[in-house]
Amino acid sequence: MTRPENEVILVLDFGGQYNQLIARRVRENHVYCEVRPHTFSLDRIREMQPKGIILTGGPNSVYTDDAVLAPKEIFSLGIPVLGICYGSQLMAHQLGGRVERADTSEYGKTDVTLTAEGKKSELFTEVQEESICWMSHTDLIAETPAGFRITATTPVCPVAAMEDVSRNLYATQFHPEVMHTKYGRQMLKNFIYNVCKCSGDWQMDSFVEKSIRELRAKIGDGKVLCALSGGVDSAVAAVLLSKAVGRQLTCVFVDHGLLRRHEGDEVEAVFGSKSKYELNFIRVNAKQRFYERLAGITDPEQKRKIIGEEFIRVFEEESKKIGKVDFLVQGTIYPDVIESGLGNSAVIKSHHNVGGLPDYVDFKEIIEPLRLLFKDEVRSAGRELGLPENIVNRQPFPGPGLGIRIIGEVTEEKVQILKEADFIYRDELKKAGLAKDLGQYFAALTNMRSVGVMGDGRTYDYAIALRAVKTNDFMTAESAQLPWEILQKVTSRIVNEVKGVNRVLYDCTGKPPATIEFE
Ligand code: XMP
Repeated sequence: MTRPENEVILVLDFGGQYNQLIARRVRENHVYCEVRPHTFSLDRIREMQPKGIILTGGPNSVYTDDAVLAPKEIFSLGIPVLGICYGSQLMAHQLGGRVERADTSEYGKTDVTLTAEGKKSELFTEVQEESICWMSHTDLIAETPAGFRITATTPVCPVAAMEDVSRNLYATQFHPEVMHTKYGRQMLKNFIYNVCKCSGDWQMDSFVEKSIRELRAKIGDGKVLCALSGGVDSAVAAVLLSKAVGRQLTCVFVDHGLLRRHEGDEVEAVFGSKSKYELNFIRVNAKQRFYERLAGITDPEQKRKIIGEEFIRVFEEESKKIGKVDFLVQGTIYPDVIESGLGNSAVIKSHHNVGGLPDYVDFKEIIEPLRLLFKDEVRSAGRELGLPENIVNRQPFPGPGLGIRIIGEVTEEKVQILKEADFIYRDELKKAGLAKDLGQYFAALTNMRSVGVMGDGRTYDYAIALRAVKTNDFMTAESAQLPWEILQKVTSRIVNEVKGVNRVLYDCTGKPPATIEFE
């Protein structure tokens, strides 16, 4: 993967759970940052010439036989190093200090105090003497290596932070990247600017401009094909390509009839014949094909498979019509690259890419114009490119769409019910200003019918389930506590406005044990 010519901070990953967060925090400070596995060689580090290196947390103990260590020379390259949690213990251990198991583990919010030396530290500029940090450790630094001074302590940790200014080495036992560390952002900013002397040259406008130039050079007069899903990643990728090569780009948008209300038209409004972007846009209204293939199918995995396969088939038919293409665009983003490439973190679920790679299309090369960006950066690139907010701010939506939010068999009637109910729910949450704090929120159609009473009559209708979760990474999530008045309002609107529904339930389950989607 080639990197931009910007200044870079290198994050060496030792398998901790907040590693992506560190990179995001650095980038929020307008400095480009890459996450690499701890096995990244010294030669490659020298070649990369990072302005600073951050060693992450990790599950190991530095003193065991199977501990993963850093090459010791990393501490004498003359590049500033910040060790976080396991990274701090690694620095202590490898430079001659002592790490041992703590009598008491520290987890969660912890009081932290700067020492007299700490109050003078470049790392702690504008940080209060007494504050709160986020801890998650069972080992601690019992003795600092020669040349280091202790800059912070906690009730359990004699060395909550240490530094050797002459060698530009800094370490915190706590996690500055986690928002619960009150001055964590400030500390990372201090490291980046005070210690590493970065200038902050990672800006979305220059990324966009540069990508367009590079795409132009690479593609020449080649033909490019892009599958638009309606989601933010493929939309931003498409606009970037359109700015680069205009009508050499064809976007195929397969409407499988399982999108949310108005979604297909919204995509067409942006990319269709009245588009302000130059490109060829093909919308395929394929819903009947999908409903036919889904008839009688109740198993979730089978539904996923059918939707994925049919999607590929439709896409294939359309791409054959446009003839040979040179490049195929994929909306891969940086978390996908990290998760699939580093080997330390969990692998992305395969079902999260609709149908996988279309290997039947005859193309020379895959282009992934967003593979260096985090989701929030993709959104700002989208804004930079003039995409409307309703697309830029779209919450993640699974490839199989409403198909996996309808429990049991999918029918056109059920899709219609769910679309209406889901629209009301999302509309009310947006109006109440709650949407922006939620990772995902949607309605699902349960396969349950129950007795109700409306007017003087008995009903026997479906129950709608409402879901809203807070999550950082979609691997774990907690059910959001929505205000009761809002839930009541949504309930009342759904049962009154959506024919076929007489009951509304709220899902209070977290992930685990449930998943975010219902199937
Ligand atoms: P779960 O339900 O596994 O979802 O907790 C985690 C995240 O993944 C999305 N998801 C999918 N995305 N195809 C996709 O493209 C799928 O089959 C699929 N299943 C779940 C889900 O929306 C959430 O963001």
